[in-house]
Amino acid sequence: MKELSLHLLDIAQNSLAAGARHVALGVEEADGEITLTVADDGRGMSPELLARVTDPFTTTRTTRKVGMGLPLLRLAAEQTGGTLAVESREGVGTTVTAVFHAGHIDCPPLGDLAATVALLAQGLSGETELTYMHKGPQGAFTFDTAQVRAILGPEVPLSLPEVAQWMEGYVAEGEAGLRPEAPPERGTRLDTVREGTT
Ligand SMILES: Nc1ncnc2c1ncn2[C@@H]1O[C@H](COP(=O)(O)OP(=O)(O)OP(=O)(O)O)[C@@H](O)[C@H]1O
Ligand SMILES: [Mg+2]
Repeated sequence: MKELSLHLLDIAQNSLAAGARHVALGVEEADGEITLTVADDGRGMSPELLARVTDPFTTTRTTRKVGMGLPLLRLAAEQTGGTLAVESREGVGTTVTAVFHAGHIDCPPLGDLAATVALLAQGLSGETELTYMHKGPQGAFTFDTAQVRAILGPEVPLSLPEVAQWMEGYVAEGEAGLRPEAPPERGTRLDTVREGTT
């Protein structure tokens, strides 16, 4: 996977498949590291499964033999010199923590976090809530589907296209606010060079 947001999407889908009522997504950028967390209160894993789960030949899927979500995340994190940790207790829940070294040439970009969060939120059942927290070097942004539902009232589903679009825009704005002083692109763009010469 080329973007960290796609890993988050994939790992969060495991939480939903495990019957979680609450899924907490975290992205933290600090000290040259990007830490992704997906924590849920789903059914959890047996110690036997947990011990094998980052190995590419482990899955409880019946449609095919190889589960790749966690092994791919582990590989991606380790390729940057980082780590993957999976904690899980049956009947309690699971927390997946991936640490990437941001400065490493193999570190994937964050990707479209707003689209990922909105996509997950709009697919939630009425009994499951999603929280998202992105901590940047100079601040944090949080999003909580329970709050969105409280504002919308019980009649309006998160899957409504207008609501999904609003959620994506809201998170995108929050993301942009985490990089307030991002400098404009430096250097001369090729197209402006060409314009100048014609
Ligand atoms: N959050 C979780 N809660 C409970 N069990 C989990 C969780 N995450 C993973 N598992 C278990 O670990 C297995 C492997 O997960 P992984 O994401 O690597 O592969 P998969 O979901 O089976 O397949 P893929 O992600 O490739 O579609 C899952 O089939 C599931 O049994
Ligand atoms: Mg999976």
